[in-house]
Amino acid sequence: MKKSGKYNRILVTAALPYTNGYTHLGHVAGSFLPADMYARYCRLAGYDIIFICGSDEYGTPIALAAIKEGVSTKEIIDKYHYANKKAYEELGLSFDIFSRTSNETHAETAQEFFLNLYNKKLLYQKTEKQLYSEKENRFLADRFVVGTCPICGFEEATGDECENCGSALSPNQLINPKSKLTGDTPVIKDTVSYYFPLKDYQAKLEKWIDSKTDWKPNVVNYCKGWFKTGLQDRSITRELEWGVPVPIKGEEGKVIYIWFEAPIGYISMTKELFAQKGEPEKWKEYWQSKDTKLVNFLGKDNIIFHAIFFPAMLMAHGDFVLADNVPANEFMNLEGSKQSKSKGHAILLKDVVNKFNPDSIRYAIASNMPENKDTDFYWVDLQAKNNNELSAILGNFVNRTFVFCEKYFEGRVPESGTFAEIDSNIINSLKSYVERIASYYENYKFKDALGETMNLVRDANKYFNDTEPWKVIKEDKARCGTVINVCLQLCHTFAILFDPVLPFTSIKILNMLNTGKENFSWDKAAELTLNNGHKLNSPEILFRKIEDSEIEK
Ligand code: MF3
Ligand code: ZN
Repeated sequence: MKKSGKYNRILVTAALPYTNGYTHLGHVAGSFLPADMYARYCRLAGYDIIFICGSDEYGTPIALAAIKEGVSTKEIIDKYHYANKKAYEELGLSFDIFSRTSNETHAETAQEFFLNLYNKKLLYQKTEKQLYSEKENRFLADRFVVGTCPICGFEEATGDECENCGSALSPNQLINPKSKLTGDTPVIKDTVSYYFPLKDYQAKLEKWIDSKTDWKPNVVNYCKGWFKTGLQDRSITRELEWGVPVPIKGEEGKVIYIWFEAPIGYISMTKELFAQKGEPEKWKEYWQSKDTKLVNFLGKDNIIFHAIFFPAMLMAHGDFVLADNVPANEFMNLEGSKQSKSKGHAILLKDVVNKFNPDSIRYAIASNMPENKDTDFYWVDLQAKNNNELSAILGNFVNRTFVFCEKYFEGRVPESGTFAEIDSNIINSLKSYVERIASYYENYKFKDALGETMNLVRDANKYFNDTEPWKVIKEDKARCGTVINVCLQLCHTFAILFDPVLPFTSIKILNMLNTGKENFSWDKAAELTLNNGHKLNSPEILFRKIEDSEIEK
């Protein structure tokens, strides 16, 4: 297997989506699509790579969704887990595993992790005052308490924040606190929490992040901001039923804090992947060797957990590899304002993935990816990108090449003959294109990778126009054959280079070329792989035009 710098294998993760709702396009732009493009590129480049993801199923958001929909938490997670998983498949996300944190392996792995730190005496206990409902016989988690905001007087603030003035709150600050569920007035009661000493890791984390020369500036800047304020120790247990039980005698009523337990999901899901493959020990090769390149993809709201909290946990544990990079994206807003499932202002993936070509959705998002700053998704943009770029540039080139070949060369790859200068020029340009695009992928510059790939197609269209095969066919069929040969070779190159962003189209092109995946790798992208006389399949339209009426809807 190919090495990636000092690394022998690559472990790619995308932030685990909560199962309290349907995935929207903001999530796709933030983490799933860049992670998938990267994973697909890495496979083509010949790296040993796995791509891990799954549902994040515990914590108050899920418990609240269950209450809101009037069903059990199990029903909630099943509903959204399977629906989201299906939508991801339809979008072509190529996870090696898409599992879930409610699985037994995850609970075991998270509990083992917790115990490892506990037994090393790294955790400490603190007695705290928390709101307790005597009627419900339980402590009330932040979001289960409503009351009046002490800052602006808004009467429906929750125990974690005030929706009206945006202040972060703790339940004890609320005036007239009430249980969200029963309206009961809670009392204050002592409870013991377990703390992770995050403060103690600040120096180590700062040094670690300083050593990273290739992290995105947005990620490094967030981290520096937190370091400046000073990291605070974090409580890693919660008085809640819905979660992984704290594995300590006498504490069975508590669960592990979701942000401690969920990222361990990356490890537990890797275990599951290899258990399914019948190699139950192999996950260790990925997580417990220094020559693994761990890359965590996520949206900016997750940076603190992946660049600070989880690495500190891993440092404390000691057996696992730390991230090589945490390429976080900013947000992709919708027609000018933030996408939010709770506010209903979002495009749900499941609703669009069947209405439009999934590759068109991927392309529209990838070419507008919020890599360094927030971007906006506009419906008209999807239409424009599909019609003016995918259809008019890529679809057009592939289509006219195939139609021409079918009409004049019986659908067989014409003899290559001898190349003229114009042929050699485009053929010779492939190598540097392929290298440049690879380097963009290696450096998480997906927009640039895509833009450069499209530039090559523009060159190809220019080549077709300049060589004028429709004229030459009348005067010199052999010369025309050379041109069409080159164009077909370019179609094979496009099948490879577009696979990270347009995987369905890539397969369609391969099918039209009547080739399998024998030459389907990055190092073959600059080569002429089709044999003279090779029989092609009939052309099909790659991208149908999106009409105004579809977008208006
Ligand atoms: N569920 C979280 C979110 O959607 C992400 C969890 S990532 C993990 O924001 F690493 F904690 F799993
Ligand atoms: Zn307020």
